Amino acid sequence: MNFSDLRAILQYVPQFRGRTFVVALDGAVIESSDFSNILLDLAVLRSLNVKVVLVHGAAAQIAALAHKRSVTLSNSDGIGVTDEATLEVSMDAISRLSNALLQSLTTVRINAATANAIHAHPAGIIRGVDQGFTGTVEKIEAGVLQGFLDQDILPVVPPVGFDSDGQMLRLNSDAIAREVAVALGASKILFVSREALHDLRIGQDRQWDAESASHFVTTHPELPAGMASKLHHGSRATRDGVPRVHLLSSRNPDALLGELFSNEGVGTMIYSDAYQRIRQAAHSDADAIYLLISRAVEDEELIERSRAEILAAIQDYIVLEIDGNIVGTVAVHPHPEGDRAELACLYVKRGHTTRGYGRTLVSAAVERARDIGCKRLFALSTQAAGYLEMQGFARSDNFSLLTADRREKWAENRRNALLLVRDL
Ligand SMILES: CC(C)(COP(=O)(O)OP(=O)(O)OC[C@H]1O[C@@H](n2cnc3c(N)ncnc32)[C@H](O)[C@@H]1OP(=O)(O)O)[C@@H](O)C(=O)NCCC(=O)NCCS
Repeated sequence: MNFSDLRAILQYVPQFRGRTFVVALDGAVIESSDFSNILLDLAVLRSLNVKVVLVHGAAAQIAALAHKRSVTLSNSDGIGVTDEATLEVSMDAISRLSNALLQSLTTVRINAATANAIHAHPAGIIRGVDQGFTGTVEKIEAGVLQGFLDQDILPVVPPVGFDSDGQMLRLNSDAIAREVAVALGASKILFVSREALHDLRIGQDRQWDAESASHFVTTHPELPAGMASKLHHGSRATRDGVPRVHLLSSRNPDALLGELFSNEGVGTMIYSDAYQRIRQAAHSDADAIYLLISRAVEDEELIERSRAEILAAIQDYIVLEIDGNIVGTVAVHPHPEGDRAELACLYVKRGHTTRGYGRTLVSAAVERARDIGCKRLFALSTQAAGYLEMQGFARSDNFSLLTADRREKWAENRRNALLLVRDL
């Protein structure tokens, strides 16, 4: 790792400090060899002062115990019917798993406690079928969980709840993760399962708003039930105010930290708000812009600019932020004659391209040029002439639009950049 990578990671630290994350682990993940990495990542999150609540599923453990006891399950994941025999096996498997989890957390020096914070009621009759001992979350005792978090204790929430008569009910852990996140005002839910959506090769989109995630579930009946459930509850959680939900695969050893500490992330994300923002650059953005465009400069897509040059003209720059991180930029340099301006330094970070961000930046540049009274916007481009033509620019050989100084630089650079002009 080089220092630029480290800098990119550290920029997220203040953003997450003191925030609450709900990490929802499938039982199969806890059973797998991937779990040791997850444990270390949880310890890293806590050392960064992120408050973590751990919700766990237990389908794999319930199925294994049922097999051992030769019990036929009515259901293992808390979504379908739970009969008496299934409830009994489930409760045994869940309590063993919760204890094993507490033990594992101790090995990475995390103080944890199982929390009984869920009021539930029987799911009742759904589509004519009595769901037996399957429950629905009625209320989360947020105060109980918050009390643990305030004492630096990580609450472990198993997939069970009690109704007002003290009857134990089997619950679905994805639904619990959603309810817990909403009740605590969490910043994120991280669903960790063994498979990832993009491994299933059904859909390549990596970032969805709540609407698109729901639409995906209804239009893809072939989705495995576990994945459909996470997308469904993730989408509902974002509608109920949880800003981000991430679906990760534990098979990727960098899943948890990679999703959090990189702009691109490694899993699938569902977001609630307009997490994209376009704004005037500030002096403090000069370094970030310099680092952002350095790769395009290396690839000769953009001409080189020093940090000092960017800083000196920082009022000309516009930046596009995602989650508070700059992923695109454009500059509008006014011509001394005041009737025209140059669009320059248009760049969208790799991993964020083809989502319309380039178009958004060009529109912002056009608006800026109009605001300062320009009638024409021009650009010099070596590799994106075709792109600018799509954005309403036309090729021109009227180089007198450039200042003498700019013309000289253009000749010196020998990049044979094309001139493109857009009337405003
Ligand atoms: C050019 C650039 C800003 C486009 O950003 P973006 O966010 O991907 O653009 P949009 O999402 O608005 O548009 C994507 C479309 O433009 C096309 N496109 C991207 N770069 C292109 C190029 N250099 N030439 C022609 N078309 C291009 C894509 O293929 C895509 O087409 P589609 O919609 O048919 O799939 C980005 O690719 C970039 O930063 N490139 C490197 C730097 C550069 O060349 N800057 C321009 C200097 S003038």
